[in-house]
Amino acid sequence: MSGAYRQSDEPPILMLDSGVGGLTVLREARVLMPDRRFVYIVDDAGFPYGDWKEDALKARLVALFGRLIEEHRPLACVVACNTASTLALDDLRAAYPEMTFVGTVPAIKPAAERTRSGLVSVLATPGTVERQYTRDLITQWATRCEVRLVGSVKLAALAETYMRQAFVDEEAVRAEILPCFVETEGRRTDIVVLACTHYPFLVNRMRKTAPWPVDWLDPAEAIARRTLSVLPARPERGATERQMDIAVFTAGSPDALTRRLIQGFGLTA
Ligand code: DGL
Repeated sequence: MSGAYRQSDEPPILMLDSGVGGLTVLREARVLMPDRRFVYIVDDAGFPYGDWKEDALKARLVALFGRLIEEHRPLACVVACNTASTLALDDLRAAYPEMTFVGTVPAIKPAAERTRSGLVSVLATPGTVERQYTRDLITQWATRCEVRLVGSVKLAALAETYMRQAFVDEEAVRAEILPCFVETEGRRTDIVVLACTHYPFLVNRMRKTAPWPVDWLDPAEAIARRTLSVLPARPERGATERQMDIAVFTAGSPDALTRRLIQGFGLTA
């Protein structure tokens, strides 16, 4: 893994995703907690999580968090990834009972509360739409709606490219989101839950290529609020210099485009 870290640094909030998606959560967390230190983990050696077999990804995440907790001694861990959270949150909490984990799971409850047409779609990775966790959320909160689960194979990778090269194939975005749009008996889908943290980066292209306007639900702010609520109160500090937030890449040193991207988010590798 690469990333500069000094043992003397103030305990950080650790945030993990398979790629750049968790930065959608980090930017909201920074707004609410401008004085906190963040360590952003990019498990790029495991990207994309959406394609993994469940047992193998679970084992990877439990082992990886073990190493990260040992090394960074965080105040809390934010799993800034739906594919990882819907699979491994319970196992992570069982494996590291002293640690606080904040997860990112599909925003099905708020979508069910807000929909007027009763037609809601959940756009996520193939892994997240397969999860029992996701199906349980629907049974628990959305029995009065029709929820369509749409697994996208390409969108996370499209977001990775877009963030580095400012280019995205709009036709590919259109094709990926199209199954979210359902029209039946005069009713239309009115909410699409963005249940992968990569997707908010593409939301403008989604709006542009969508067959009709919908609300795109991005849970990033809610995750940031939840994180703030679980943190211990902060001891008063003098005017010490704020330490840099860092990014750590599991695949080793990132390329120049990735480095520039994360610098734009105020992170050093
Ligand atoms: N950002 C991740 C999520 O929220 C997944 C992307 C991937 O497939 O690795 O689900």
